[in-house]
Amino acid sequence: MKSVVILISGRGSNMRSIVEAGLAANVRAVISNRPDAGGLAYAREHGIATAVVDHTQHPDRTAFDRALAQEIDRHAPDLVVLAGFMRILTPGFVEHYAGRMINIHPSLLPAFTGLHTHRRAIEAGCRIAGVTVHFVTGELDGGPIIAQTAVPVLAGDDEATLAARVLAQEHLLYPRVVRWFLEDRLTLQHGRAVLRDEATPAAGALTAPGADD
Ligand code: GRF
Repeated sequence: MKSVVILISGRGSNMRSIVEAGLAANVRAVISNRPDAGGLAYAREHGIATAVVDHTQHPDRTAFDRALAQEIDRHAPDLVVLAGFMRILTPGFVEHYAGRMINIHPSLLPAFTGLHTHRRAIEAGCRIAGVTVHFVTGELDGGPIIAQTAVPVLAGDDEATLAARVLAQEHLLYPRVVRWFLEDRLTLQHGRAVLRDEATPAAGALTAPGADD
C-alpha cells in the first residue's frame, strides 16, 4: 500500500477529507509548521502520527526546510500532500519531492496565486471561481495543473460565502487526485501532469478531468 504524509498549517479540513475518503493508502503522518494548528488534534484522535516542525524555531528557510524534509523522510512517503500548508518552500526542498508533492489552491490558477484569492476574484468581477490541485514546483502556486473545479460567483457573494462554496469542492477534488496518484495513474512528465485513463468530461462540465472516473 502506498503511503502519504500530509502537511498542514491550520484547521486541516482538506487533510480530513483525504483521511475520511477511505483511500487505499497509509496516511503515515500529519506534520504542521504551527504547534496550534487545529488539524493536529483531529489527526491524533484518529491514531495518525503527528509532528510539529516550528518555522519560528529555525534561523532561515533552508534550515527549516531541512528539518521538515528530515521529519517527512522518516516516514518514506510515496506522496507529500500540502493541505493548507502556508510556507514558501526552498528550491532544494521542492526538487527533493519533484513529481511526488502536490498542493491545493483555492482559485482557478493561473489566476490569483498567493493569498486572499476569494476577495480578489470578487473584486475582479469574476463570474466563476474555483479550486486547483497542482504538482509543486519552485514557482509559488505555479506548478503543473492536475485538476480544477469551477464554481459560480453569485450576486451578493462575499469572501466567506465564496470560500465556503469553493471549499466544498476542495473536499471532493483533493481526495480524488490523491487516489489517482495512489493508483499510479497520475505522473509528472516533462513539466506536465499526465493522467492515465482519463474519462472525457461531458461538454460544459465544470469539473475536469472527467467526473465519473
Ligand atoms: C484551503 O482553502 C486551501 O485551498 C488553502 O488553504 C485552505 C486550507 O484549509 N491552501 P484547510 O486547513 O484544509 O481547512
